[in-house]
Amino acid sequence: MPKPRVLHDEFFKLAKEKGFVARSAFKLLEIQEKRRLIRGSDRVLDLGCAPGSWLQVLDQNLGPKARIAGIDLSAVTAPLSERVRTMQGDIYTTPPEVLLALGGLTPEQIAAGAKFDVVISDMAPNTSGHGDAFLSSRLCERMLDMLPSLLKPGGKALMKILEGEPTPDTIARTKSVFVEAGTTKPKASRDVSREIFIWGWGYKPPATTKRALPAPAASAPTSPASPATSTRKPAQSASPSEALTAKTSRTVRSASRKEGGRAPAARRKAPKR
Ligand SMILES: C[S@@+](CC[C@H](N)C(=O)[O-])C[C@H]1O[C@@H](n2cnc3c(N)ncnc32)[C@H](O)[C@@H]1O
Repeated sequence: MPKPRVLHDEFFKLAKEKGFVARSAFKLLEIQEKRRLIRGSDRVLDLGCAPGSWLQVLDQNLGPKARIAGIDLSAVTAPLSERVRTMQGDIYTTPPEVLLALGGLTPEQIAAGAKFDVVISDMAPNTSGHGDAFLSSRLCERMLDMLPSLLKPGGKALMKILEGEPTPDTIARTKSVFVEAGTTKPKASRDVSREIFIWGWGYKPPATTKRALPAPAASAPTSPASPATSTRKPAQSASPSEALTAKTSRTVRSASRKEGGRAPAARRKAPKR
């Protein structure tokens, strides 16, 4: 007989104690501790940010000059400071300029090429047990498609992926656009979960960053709902139009091999891009 799932695990309790709206906070905290993802005054974009525990971690760990933006299909419920700006929306249909403006960049700065220092994603499809890895990989691919418009050269990225058949390709693609890239599974990530996190440090944008972003999918299959506009009212929220005006570390690159992780599937059979 299968064991009943333990929901009230240590991280769940700890999240309650520390006032985080989700246990996911500890995944980001661990990655931050191990890899120094964010620094003092970074401008950070959080894709799939609701209910907001990653935003809480960013809010608590970044300096006063930092700017934090987040987007999700659902509303953010975490208590956050005024400098955190979020919107409800779908990353398949939200133009990058909206997100740049949400991150506090003016139209002039955007025109001059200013972007985020760090882009992170904890996005997950509505899991059904069928094709979850493909839907998850597709969310990551969408993020990678958007990076030329969102992430500054030399910037950092982190994204969650549910492991499966397409994962090696997504890792290989990440590796091709970062100086250093790899995967990690934080302790706070349940053993039974197929999620891992792909990280990339030192973004190398393609030579032609002005290429058009691939057209958004006719339908976004990962979307449990499609609220194109924000219905949220708190201070940290912004509508797209407002925004427009305004345990195991598995490494991919040799630079990370010294950590002793086993070679990922990507190295075994990754197609070249
Ligand atoms: C695991 S939750 C994120 C938890 C969050 N990092 C936190 O700490 O509170 C995954 C989120 O991805 C969002 N998501 C999934 N597909 C999306 C899409 N196409 N556009 C925007 N958000 C999406 C979901 O709405 C969901 O809130």
